[in-house]
Amino acid sequence: MELQDQIYYSRYKDDFEEIGKLGKGGFGRVMKCKHKLDDVEYAIKIIKFAENRRDEVVREVLKHAGLHHENIVRYHQARIEECEPKSDDDNKADSVSSNEDSVSFGSDIHGDSLYIQMECCDGTLFEHLFKELGDKDRLWIAKKIVEGLCYIHEKKTIHRDLNTHNIYILKDARERVTKIKIGDFGLAVSWKSDTDTKVQVKSSEGIDYYNAPEVVGTGLIDAKADIFSLGVILFEVLHPSSTNRERIENLIDLKGMKFPDDWKSDQYDHYKSFISKLLSKNPNDRPSAQEVLLQIQQIQDLSPSSELDEPVEGQEKQIQEGVEETRKSDLKNV
Ligand SMILES: Nc1ncnc2c1ncn2[C@@H]1O[C@H](COP(=O)(O)OP(=O)(O)OP(=O)(O)O)[C@@H](O)[C@H]1O
Ligand SMILES: [Mg+2]
Repeated sequence: MELQDQIYYSRYKDDFEEIGKLGKGGFGRVMKCKHKLDDVEYAIKIIKFAENRRDEVVREVLKHAGLHHENIVRYHQARIEECEPKSDDDNKADSVSSNEDSVSFGSDIHGDSLYIQMECCDGTLFEHLFKELGDKDRLWIAKKIVEGLCYIHEKKTIHRDLNTHNIYILKDARERVTKIKIGDFGLAVSWKSDTDTKVQVKSSEGIDYYNAPEVVGTGLIDAKADIFSLGVILFEVLHPSSTNRERIENLIDLKGMKFPDDWKSDQYDHYKSFISKLLSKNPNDRPSAQEVLLQIQQIQDLSPSSELDEPVEGQEKQIQEGVEETRKSDLKNV
C-alpha cells in the first residue's frame, strides 16, 4: 500500500479538543477534553497497553461501565485505537457503551490505546480535605462516600483501590462542593455469588496505608477489604490535617491503631470506636457498608446543629435562594 493511501484515523482527535492534562498514573494519562459536538467537558483516561495485557486493562472498563450511581464517577464510553498510522479499512475502532449488557469487544482488535471517556470532576478529595471544613460538611462527605460504596458492593464488586486520590469532588460556580464521586476502577473485581464472596488478588496492588491486612497477606479478600480502606478514608475525612506531612504521620500512627492526641478527649470516643471497628484485623469483625451508613446517620443525628456550620447539601439550597434574590433585585431595577 502506498503511504498516501494510509490515513491516521483517530476518533479521539476527531471528536475531542484537548484542554489540558488532569493527571498521570502508571498506566498513562488523563486529559480534560471538550467534545466538539456537544460542547461538554469530559475526562479521558488514555491507557497504552501491550496485547498480552488487554484483559487486565479492559477490566477497568467492564467494571466501571456497569455502575450508575450519583456517588460514582459517570462512565460514558470507551474506545480502543491503534497508535500507529494505518489503513482506513482496519481502522474502525471498537467501542464499549455504558449499557452493561452491550459491553463487548470485537475479536479482531489490534489497538494499543484504550480511551475511557468519563464525567470530568473538579478535583480529588485528597486536596479538598486540607481546606477548613466544619463537622457537618465532613459527616456529609463521609455519608456520600459510603452511599457510593454500598452501591458498589450491592453490585458484587470490590473496588480494591479506595483512597482519597480516587474519590472526586464536583463544585458549583461558587467553588462549593456539591457532589462526591468514587472513581478509578482499575483494580476492581467481582465476586461470583452470595455463597462464594472471596476473590484471590495480587497482594502487591493498592496503596499501603489503605490496604487491609489480608490484602498484603494471603491476597484472598472479600468486600470487607474495602471496608478497611474506608476506615482509613473516614479517619482522614473526620480528622483534619493541615499538611500532607501531618496526614502521613497520622496514617502511620493509625496503622498501629494509635489515634492523634487531639482526639484524646471523651467527645471523640464515638469516632474512635467507629473507625477502630472498620480497621479490625479480622475482616469478619468489620461492619458492612450498609451498617457503616447507618452508623454515620446516627452520628449525624447526635451532632449539635450550628447556623455557621451548614452541611454542603444545605449550601445548594442557599445558592438557589441567592439566585432567586438576584433575580428579584434584577426585576426591581428594570
Ligand atoms: N474523571 C476525572 N475527572 C477529573 N480528574 C480525573 C478524573 N479521572 C482521573 N483524574 C485525574 O487523573 C489522575 C489519575 O487518574 P486515575 O486515578 O484514574 O489513575 P491513577 O490512580 O493515578 O493511576 P494508577 O492507580 O492506575 O497508577 C487522578 O488523580 C486525577 O487527578
Ligand atoms: Mg487513581
